[in-house]
Amino acid sequence: MKTYNRHLITAALPYANGPVHIGHLAGVYIPADIYARYLRLRGKEVLFVCGSDEHGVPITIKARQLGVSPQDVVDKYHLMIKDAFERFGIKFDIYSRTSSKTHHKTASDFFKKLYDEGKFIEKTSEQYYDTEAQQFLADRYIMGTCPKCSNESAYGDQCEKCGSTLSPNELINPHSTISGSKPVLRETSHWYLPLDQHESWLRQWILEEHKEWKVNVYGQCKSWLDGGLQARAVSRDLDWGVPVPVQGAEGKVLYVWFDAPIGYISNTIELLPNEWEQWWKQGDTKLVHFIGKDNIVFHCIVFPAMLKAHGDYVLPENVPANEFLNLEGDKISTSRNWAVWLHEYLDEFPDKEDVLRYVLCANAPETKDNDFTWKDFQTRNNSELVAVFGNFVNRAVVLAGKYFEGKVPPLKELTAYDEEVLKELPILRQAIEENIEHYRFREALKETMNIARLGNKYLADTEPWKAAKTDMDRVSTILNISLQICANCAIAFDPFLPFTAQKLRYMLGESRADWELLGESNILPEGHALNEAQLLFDKIEDTVVEAQVNKLLATKTANDAAQKPVCEPQKPACTFDDFTKLDIRTATVLEAERVPKTDKLLKLTIDTGIDKRTIVSGIAEYYTPEQMAGKQICILANLEPRKIKGIESQGMILMAKEPNGNMRFVRPDEVLANGAVVN
Ligand code: MF3
Ligand code: ZN
Repeated sequence: MKTYNRHLITAALPYANGPVHIGHLAGVYIPADIYARYLRLRGKEVLFVCGSDEHGVPITIKARQLGVSPQDVVDKYHLMIKDAFERFGIKFDIYSRTSSKTHHKTASDFFKKLYDEGKFIEKTSEQYYDTEAQQFLADRYIMGTCPKCSNESAYGDQCEKCGSTLSPNELINPHSTISGSKPVLRETSHWYLPLDQHESWLRQWILEEHKEWKVNVYGQCKSWLDGGLQARAVSRDLDWGVPVPVQGAEGKVLYVWFDAPIGYISNTIELLPNEWEQWWKQGDTKLVHFIGKDNIVFHCIVFPAMLKAHGDYVLPENVPANEFLNLEGDKISTSRNWAVWLHEYLDEFPDKEDVLRYVLCANAPETKDNDFTWKDFQTRNNSELVAVFGNFVNRAVVLAGKYFEGKVPPLKELTAYDEEVLKELPILRQAIEENIEHYRFREALKETMNIARLGNKYLADTEPWKAAKTDMDRVSTILNISLQICANCAIAFDPFLPFTAQKLRYMLGESRADWELLGESNILPEGHALNEAQLLFDKIEDTVVEAQVNKLLATKTANDAAQKPVCEPQKPACTFDDFTKLDIRTATVLEAERVPKTDKLLKLTIDTGIDKRTIVSGIAEYYTPEQMAGKQICILANLEPRKIKGIESQGMILMAKEPNGNMRFVRPDEVLANGAVVN
């Protein structure tokens, strides 16, 4: 077995386009934190690195929807996410962000080195371009009709109605969500990481040398590798991200999945500017990536290929990815607000961080998707944390107060049963260690809980409150043993429930957790003074979880109501000058007639206050010529004249269009003189 002198632990950088929820915690951050805390307790050199992933198209879309800049979006969520992790006791050595200077430089240099050494290939392809907004369109910025189910609001990468994966050129009637215009195909060139050239060493490294990886991880890698790897673009035409550091690459940034994993390195550099290389470049570093299953290919194939192409870097020793956590039977979804948000939990359940840590670890989606339910949350709290762990500790400490003035009583004579119980402790320690070291955190927590179960059962079996009537020596032994078991709990629970373990150590008059003592039966010396007993956990009442379930049900109702079509996103900003160029004024329709051989067009004669003119308008589906005559409306008077069906149209009628296509005039709420200017 290889010996490692450093443990470099990374947790997936969460996207800073929304707050974090229980799925993130269960899948990535709790297991990573348990692992890091455990290794620190064992005296290892540990670096636990994370930060916000602040680039990528979803962030620009969110910004556009909110009418703010992408930087505003990430500033807000970065702080929110960082705060939630801190409050849950996720103890990173650094939590930074990919919009940092250090990261931009690191990612840029990384790209540049690969570029200079010819490690990329450059390819030209046709991409949709918005000629009005003058920019290339990411797949998410193109909408159109789904070729499979005819949904008119399918995205360029996916139809959310039928779930098909699409590419933008499959969409019928594609339009840009930025300007609404029809995009055109235009050539653009990008750099690609030729993964095909990395296939053979990746096969050997993963499929032969890492057979111990989790079944779900190994399986996904194998199917990618068996399917044959293809070159992947590492740049995008976008104005948010790390600029491509190559001449002539204006308007291009690194693809977010290229820059984000480099964030692990950048954040290490930010924390340890002089020592970071030891952590990333020396073979005796054990690098472990904690991620969710949707990140497997990037961490097992793409990032290792990047590191290998760069040279010098260590590769991950393991990537213990988890599956997904569902919520009350449904997939967690940010857009549908189907989630338990950490910031809300923290506010609604003060001092119960460890309860959620416990439930999410006990129920972690380690080998398959799992479900979080509030009922299960309540049951695990009430019948495990309260009834077993809390109850045991409380009885032991209270009885020691009652019979021995809050001091650890002497160990007198051991019965065979006592010995049997004490023998369990080192066995449990070994099971916990084995499980944590193999990334089986649920199992490890179960074994940890078995220490408390052992103690609880021991007290129930030996009944010291009865023995107290006849045999105080026996009570002394029983309580000594019980308190030693409490002391074992205070160590073993530390990685899992750090707040509770600390509280327990305070009760036991112990200042720190020393893992090397775990399994021993003489941790607390005879006569050692304890502090007052306090409850470690409180019962959670039905009303509390019912309120949470109701909150979710309300979300469902709101979602159903929101099944209506969504509004078009806001257009890019225009200046006041842009606006004043538009000559909008009131006018009255004098005559109206259908344009022959068309369904949609009406020819209108209009009194604009300045003149009488003709406007051709596509409103015949909504209004008959009879309805139109005599109506006051608003027009854009200075629109360049255009010929429509041979008729010169001089202006445009202003209409408001609902997402479902319904249209109505925009006009003053009382009749005004014609030619009144709108501004
Ligand atoms: N932001 C990505 C996600 O939430 C994870 C990025 S992990 C990194 O799925 F390695 F790229 F940083
Ligand atoms: Zn569809």
